[in-house]
Amino acid sequence: MASQSAIQAGPGRCARYLVLGVGVGEATAERVRDALAAVPTLVRSVGQRDDTAALSCVVSIGAGAWERLVPGRSLPAQLHTFRALSDGGREAPSTPGDVLLHVRAEREDFCHELARLIVATIGDAAVVLEEVHGFAYMDSRDLIGFVDGTENPAADERVEFTIVGEEDPEHAGGSYVTTQRYVTDFAKWQALSVEAQEGVIGRTKLDDVELADDVCPPTAHKARTTIVRDGAEQKILRHNRVWGNARESGTFFIAYARDLSVTETMLERMFVADADGNYDHLVDFSRPVTGCHFFAPSLEMLEALADPPP
Ligand code: HEM
Repeated sequence: MASQSAIQAGPGRCARYLVLGVGVGEATAERVRDALAAVPTLVRSVGQRDDTAALSCVVSIGAGAWERLVPGRSLPAQLHTFRALSDGGREAPSTPGDVLLHVRAEREDFCHELARLIVATIGDAAVVLEEVHGFAYMDSRDLIGFVDGTENPAADERVEFTIVGEEDPEHAGGSYVTTQRYVTDFAKWQALSVEAQEGVIGRTKLDDVELADDVCPPTAHKARTTIVRDGAEQKILRHNRVWGNARESGTFFIAYARDLSVTETMLERMFVADADGNYDHLVDFSRPVTGCHFFAPSLEMLEALADPPP
């Protein structure tokens, strides 16, 4: 089964993240299914106006809407609603979301046009619960000044770590997607020395080089998100972008994974202190205000939504 190719695309200089809530009733669900199945065609017709815009869109579906939007297909083995985390005053909330549209391009106008057309096609069959406009900041840095995305899996590893295979044959070609919108406390962050900031991330700020294990604190973001199972490092593919306005801003975290439990273990290690009291100190400076899991079905399954089994 072919996956939605946009999963493997670059993060794009511009992104739109739209979280939808589907209305009640079968007729409503049918309209949403038809609109989602048509997304690959819409991407082609809008995108062909300028190939260099590299327009793409991944469509994914949440556990709560799966039965209605993908009738006749079992729930992907690991799909469930986001489990909220809470420890020591750190909170990772779970928020609603039936459908996620992850639109990316090198040009903002292409993102706008595609998002507008998809939402117009869906009409009142769904409400937009959240629309976030993401953008690349400088040389792909987060607003806290560190390059974001460096340690993403590359080449063949990208598919290996993002696309479901024989472990769930009905959903082969699909991918688990996790999103969180973070709000950053810049005053608090900027009060740290550069050296202290580097200890929070586990990398140097200017050059983006990882700190050696003997100097990297166990509370560094790098240390808390490095997951090793049976001697092998487990990876996820992050396509984060920054978002915001002059008053409030932060990171839109979005990750694709073949194994949702890898992302969940990272989240747990970030927010919940271990026996030594270690958690990810990055979350002392950035607070998530949303949290959702979705599943991006294979391209075949997406296009078949317009013609579900009776
Ligand atoms: C405010 C939110 C976040 C910010 C600003 C942020 C920023 C960063 C930065 C600057 C890096 C180092 C460069 C790189 O390899 O990309 C990084 C690495 C990483 N982040 Fe995050 N991140 C955030 C949230 C998350 C979350 C929620 C997860 C997982 C659930 C995560 C997983 C990872 C992983 C796996 C790495 C690579 C670690 C390594 O192999 O060295 N990040 N992040």
